[in-house]
Amino acid sequence: MKEAKNLHTPSMRKARKRTSRHTPVIDFARHAVLKDIGKGRLYHLDTYGCQANEADSETIRGLLGKLGFRETDEESRADLILLNTCVVRSSAASRIFGELGRLKRYKRENPDLILGVAGCLPQDESATKRILEEHPHVDLIFGTHNIHRLPELLETALLSKEKVVEVLSEEGDIVENLPKRRFHTKKAYVNIMYGCDEFCTYCVVPYTRGKERSRPFARILAEIDALIAEGYREVTLLGQNVNAYGKDLEDEKTFADLLRALHERKIARVRFTTSHPRDFDQQTIDVLARGGNLMPHIHLPVQAGGDKILGRMNRKYTRDDILDLVGRMRKAIPGVALTTDLIVGFPGETEADFEKTLDLVEKVGFEGAFTFMFSPREGTPAAKFTDNVPQETKKERLHRLQKRADEGYKKGNERFLEKTVDVLVEKESKEKGMLAGYSPHHKLVHFAGSTDLVGEIVPVRITEAKTWFLRGEIHEESP
Ligand code: SAM
Ligand code: SF4
Ligand code: F3S
Repeated sequence: MKEAKNLHTPSMRKARKRTSRHTPVIDFARHAVLKDIGKGRLYHLDTYGCQANEADSETIRGLLGKLGFRETDEESRADLILLNTCVVRSSAASRIFGELGRLKRYKRENPDLILGVAGCLPQDESATKRILEEHPHVDLIFGTHNIHRLPELLETALLSKEKVVEVLSEEGDIVENLPKRRFHTKKAYVNIMYGCDEFCTYCVVPYTRGKERSRPFARILAEIDALIAEGYREVTLLGQNVNAYGKDLEDEKTFADLLRALHERKIARVRFTTSHPRDFDQQTIDVLARGGNLMPHIHLPVQAGGDKILGRMNRKYTRDDILDLVGRMRKAIPGVALTTDLIVGFPGETEADFEKTLDLVEKVGFEGAFTFMFSPREGTPAAKFTDNVPQETKKERLHRLQKRADEGYKKGNERFLEKTVDVLVEKESKEKGMLAGYSPHHKLVHFAGSTDLVGEIVPVRITEAKTWFLRGEIHEESP
């Protein structure tokens, strides 16, 4: 086993702390000295988890590019293999540990290979301990707060040949002007805030991502203006709870202000994720009602449908609050598509509690849901709750819930039959000669067309509605 250098391991106790420190904003471009340590070297990056990790991977790619590295799809050719990881459920963590075992053979074949683990998994104290104990072939471990330090960490790992572990549990600064190499050329994720202060009892994200920190308003707009100048057609504003944007800023800017500013900008589509129902205010609904480039789709994770479980989850709203909020959304934004996240088998969930969740899916008319079985996460309060729901019952509930959610999915798709929708074309679909893209309501649409249409917004007449997607044909006149 290599000697460890910069051994800075995480602490869940520290990660839980919230201070009143005003988050400094640091300009990376001013301070960074980038050496070409990657010249002639190849890297392979795998990304797991949510959009926050995808956005971070774009930064990792940007930084590696500046250091002279080039990307490869082939692990066997890589000089650096990095996993940008997730720990939100135990299945996500197990998958990464499985991958670390599998990747060992590349290390055996090429002892100079640097194998790195980044992202949320290392932020979990017990996970980092396990990597160190069970996977000594991992050379580099860093977390979500110090991605900007990748050049220095890599240089140490490459030159000193020592293991480098730097995972910070103190809240990170806001680092601006980091280089990015984006995954798409027409649609982009834009972080508007980092971290989460909600502390839902089941969730590890407030520990892995730290305190809620909003990016300065002007910096966000500058990034989007640059994207517009580069020809981007769609931006998705990112945060664990975008509706809390600005609460920590001195200039009192809000999420509604941000949407208002973007409504005036020449970008075809504006989306956002994720919203916490408690912070979704009327001002935001009123701005979304202006339509235009503000897309009529809201991902509104409700997690459960009954007050007892919502209370135990620390979600800070009731079933009636959801019904009231959705009523106001539907009134102001006719035809809005609503999707959600739901957890089944939360400790103490009875059949009656579960039926409230099933019923809420139907009452709200959700047109899609990510459904999860409760997964206890070490360090979170719910991991200590008495879990009296048998595994079989959890599985059966998940199945019933998915079925109900799929009915909503199908209904949501059927309402577009015989209608013409604008589709931002993303790529060729698997079927030969077919393209795939998304409508304003975030419905996946397949239609026949030439690949020069990738990146364009095309009117498509819908001819068939399946559960998961729509099929259509190009319509000559715009809707
Ligand atoms: N911030 C968002 C929110 O509040 O909805 C998303 C958080 S998380 C990245 C995405 C989803 O994972 C959550 O909405 C929740 O449904 C699910 N999730 C989080 N922790 C979980 C756990 N311990 N077990 C099962 N599902 C979980
Ligand atoms: Fe997790 Fe709740 Fe924060 Fe979402 S709002 S990231 S579920 S703690
Ligand atoms: Fe996973 Fe971290 Fe996102 S735990 S869901 S990658 S914030």
